[in-house]
Amino acid sequence: MTSEEMEKFIVRYADLKPCKTAFIDAHTPGSNQKENFTIIGSGVSESPDQHVHIKETPGFNIGAAGQPPGCTNSLHSHTTAEVFYVLKGRWRFFWGRDGKDGEVIANEGDLVNIPTGIFRAFKNIGNSYGMLMAVLGGDDAGGGVTWAPEVINNAKEYGLILGENGLLYDTKKGESLPSHVNPMPLLSEDELKDFPIVTTEEFQENFFVSATDLFESSKKGSVNVIGKNGILKDRPGFEVDFITNNSFIDEFDFTDQYQVNMISKGSWSLEYEGGSSELLEGDTCLITPNLTYRMVPLNSNDASLFRVTKTNDVAGPTWRM
Ligand SMILES: [Fe+2]
Repeated sequence: MTSEEMEKFIVRYADLKPCKTAFIDAHTPGSNQKENFTIIGSGVSESPDQHVHIKETPGFNIGAAGQPPGCTNSLHSHTTAEVFYVLKGRWRFFWGRDGKDGEVIANEGDLVNIPTGIFRAFKNIGNSYGMLMAVLGGDDAGGGVTWAPEVINNAKEYGLILGENGLLYDTKKGESLPSHVNPMPLLSEDELKDFPIVTTEEFQENFFVSATDLFESSKKGSVNVIGKNGILKDRPGFEVDFITNNSFIDEFDFTDQYQVNMISKGSWSLEYEGGSSELLEGDTCLITPNLTYRMVPLNSNDASLFRVTKTNDVAGPTWRM
């Protein structure tokens, strides 16, 4: 493969195209400044405005959330995995029916694997633009987002209506719900009762790993962050590994599964038969099955990346192992 051909599989941070109207809270004060990015996959957006950088579906989706200080992504839940690592900034993740069951603070390089079936929200509590990189389980990312009832109700006040078809109608743009489309039904109190409760302690133990712990573990070699035997034990249809300038393997290799490399720190060279490409912080590359390649850090300090590899597990609820 030539480097020109490889460029089709690389999404550079500097080229990311945001969608500002991806979700129902796009007009709600406190959430209306958020930017949503769909990097690889089919995406979960409720708006036709979203730009998908690479439309291949490797068994999971890669996306990102960019938010200025003080901006919150509203309470919602997913039926498949939602993994974030902090590329930039300082974030507060909180969850539960009212967002009050627990919280963790995540800084640059920290990773969270939010369990399926709970309402989660996240706010940029830093003082500059923050960026979260995301992995969502399944080719269709679980088919969409379930919003907490008050998120849907609040949005209506600011002109946005979510249809049962999963699409948004913006009354500020003169749109209205078509007569053949019902509004998205709100979850009933009975349905809400079945949402699990996760404490901060449980979350810290099973669903969060700090950058410090990742770097410490990487001194002994490549780190399996999410996997059957990972630091965070789960089988969401993919595994996540953490690789640094200390632990990278300086040999060409291949796998018969899709992989995605997401650069967290430093610059890396992606090398393959026919060429090489330089990747910087925030860049993402999709590796198609059976491509022989290696990733080599170009600086000797603090270079790190997250590698996502598809597995044959079904993308579904979080495993409790
Ligand atoms: Fe989400």
